[in-house]
Amino acid sequence: MDTKYLQFNNADLQLAGELIRQGELVAFPTETVYGLGANALDEHAVKSTYVAKGRPSDNPLIVHVWDKGQIYDVAREVNNDAKKIIDCLMPASLTIVLPKRSTISDAITAGLDTVAIRMPRSMQAREFLRYACVPVTAPSANLSGRPSPTSWQRVKQDMDGRIAAILCGEDCDVGIESTVLDLTGSKPRILRPGVVTSEQIEQVVGKRVEVVINPKSKVNSPGVRYKHYAPKVPMALDTSGEVSKLVAFYDDLVKRGFNPVLLVEQPHKYGARNVYPIGHNDEQVAQSLFENLRVLEEKYDYIVASFTSRTAFGQSILNRLVRAAGGNII
Ligand code: TXA
Ligand code: MG
Repeated sequence: MDTKYLQFNNADLQLAGELIRQGELVAFPTETVYGLGANALDEHAVKSTYVAKGRPSDNPLIVHVWDKGQIYDVAREVNNDAKKIIDCLMPASLTIVLPKRSTISDAITAGLDTVAIRMPRSMQAREFLRYACVPVTAPSANLSGRPSPTSWQRVKQDMDGRIAAILCGEDCDVGIESTVLDLTGSKPRILRPGVVTSEQIEQVVGKRVEVVINPKSKVNSPGVRYKHYAPKVPMALDTSGEVSKLVAFYDDLVKRGFNPVLLVEQPHKYGARNVYPIGHNDEQVAQSLFENLRVLEEKYDYIVASFTSRTAFGQSILNRLVRAAGGNII
């Protein structure tokens, strides 16, 4: 398939919308990561998303909307907590899980009775969705298991020849995927942490929010079970920031014949070793994390990352790092 590269002008947006309505796949920017869009009302199109990504079909997709009213067309029931969140927080880097309407097929929800819905903060994302005229399912636009793409060039790397078009928009400014919030139980539960934190949600709904992020525990968000975000080379993660420990680990890798790199907060502390800056604050680290993994896997054969932030957003970033490292914590 010859993938089209489309720009944010009226003619190209119209074409992107037509392609979606014809059942084709179109990748588009959001503020979190690039998404791989399909017409949510077309079961065949939705199913082709799993094929293009090589994604297990028991991992459900998020339905994206450009307008708050559409949420009510997708969800069967919008409870009071959901209403408050829709009114006060959206659009946002936040996905809410609600009971689904029968128009939402099992191909989207992997047989669950619930549906994940997101109204992106990105204007470019909402513009594309408006041109599509239908709700759009979109997983991250990477091959399954790989770091999520935060620029159209990274979507190209994984998806060229596999999908009809890529909308070449801006780079993503958040850099990690949306917070997934389950609102179907008595207590709101975060199934995937992101830039919207439990504190922010608690302030809006006025009750405690549970955070369920242990990938080994039994959770309602099937996607958190799978291998994710992994670079092509082995990766280890440190959360202490102890220079001597990182140096010892690095030097041992060199003795074993590796050409490793340290992805760290203060690169100048590591002498002549291979170093790369992870970023100075949570926002920077998140924004460049997946891009950094894709850059470093090309140049080195072992990535040693160190991340010490203990903020709520920092925990969301740590969640991605732990999984990128396949749980290899030093
Ligand atoms: O930021 C984002 O959310 C990006 C952009 C493109 O919007 N999308 C994204 O999609 O990250 P994906 O497919 O990579 O992740 C969707 C997550 C998975 O963890 C999946 O299990 C969960 O949402 N999910 C989807 N439907 C669900 C449901 N009905 N109940 C619980 N979790 C659900
Ligand atoms: Mg993903």
